[in-house]
Amino acid sequence: MALGPSLDKLGTSALIRRILLAILIVSLTIGAGGVYEILRNRALETASNDARLLLTSAVAVTSFTDDEVFHLMNQLPPDKFYKQLVPFYAANAVFHRLRETYPNYIYREPALNPTNPNDRPTPHEVELTERFQDNPALKEIEGIRREQGKDFFYLAQPIKVNHQQCLVCHSTPDRAPAAMVAEYGPSNGFGWAMNDTVGILELSVPITDELRGTAELAATLAAGLLLVFLITYIALTTALETALVTPLQRLADAADAASRTTNEHVTLPNSGTRELRQLSSAIGRLNLSLRKSLRQLSGGAPPPPETPPDKKED
Ligand code: HEC
Repeated sequence: MALGPSLDKLGTSALIRRILLAILIVSLTIGAGGVYEILRNRALETASNDARLLLTSAVAVTSFTDDEVFHLMNQLPPDKFYKQLVPFYAANAVFHRLRETYPNYIYREPALNPTNPNDRPTPHEVELTERFQDNPALKEIEGIRREQGKDFFYLAQPIKVNHQQCLVCHSTPDRAPAAMVAEYGPSNGFGWAMNDTVGILELSVPITDELRGTAELAATLAAGLLLVFLITYIALTTALETALVTPLQRLADAADAASRTTNEHVTLPNSGTRELRQLSSAIGRLNLSLRKSLRQLSGGAPPPPETPPDKKED
């Protein structure tokens, strides 16, 4: 019953205003906030699907090169190194072509100790690699990162040395093809061991526009809700004030004054809605009959035949 005492002190207008404000807060939070959450999740889901599809195709290129192209190296002259046979070179090259059509999508295959200096990891990529190293059961990590004022959805998977054939080129320089060492140098991309997590595959999809569009939509909805609320608020409070609260207050004041005066003929205001006018007449009649009874009780002369001005129905 916590509402009881506070309701006692509250005027009708204040009560209605509080109810309307509560409705506004709830509808804004649920309406605009809910729509923002739904649209944002949908944008992220689309980005996640795009990223997964593209990352899967990059992995498909590496395994195709691994399975069907790499063994051709033995048939090529040993003094020349064909990097086209290297799985991760092939994936990078294919994606490079894809970016001619979709320049915003970013494919990366950074390693903590990379063969190609272009694959040196950023601090964010080092952090992801270390998370995969700390938790070998982790299959992928996805999230949002901000780079140069743009938001990207990223999907990352660990790169593990899962094949003895990787070690031909990534264990020691003397095991690697001499032509490869001549091209890439003897100090990068070596010293890897079987089952090491050496780097990550990461696909980033830009989502700045999608997130901005979502926020704009939610803001438009909030503005619309606010406008409808404002109109409702003004219309309701004005109608309430003129048709109910002010006449009721006038009636209450007049009834209060009538209860304190000795004057028998009091005029009560007769304005406001139908129910209020009914109440005013009833109070008028009540006042008259009360005074009649009081006069009789005090032994005065028999009352004059009197009828209140609006006592028509009786
Ligand atoms: C024939 C030698 C060779 C084999 C076999 C090979 N790689 Fe590489 N790898 C390279 C070269 C060369 C590059 C650099 C390619 C480039 O220029 O982008 C590379 C690049 C990479 C990269 C990108 C980061 C970096 O070092 O620049 C990763 C990750 C990688 N290899 C992992 C593997 C794994 C895992 C395997 C086994 C499944 C493997 N490699 C097999 C030679 C090889």
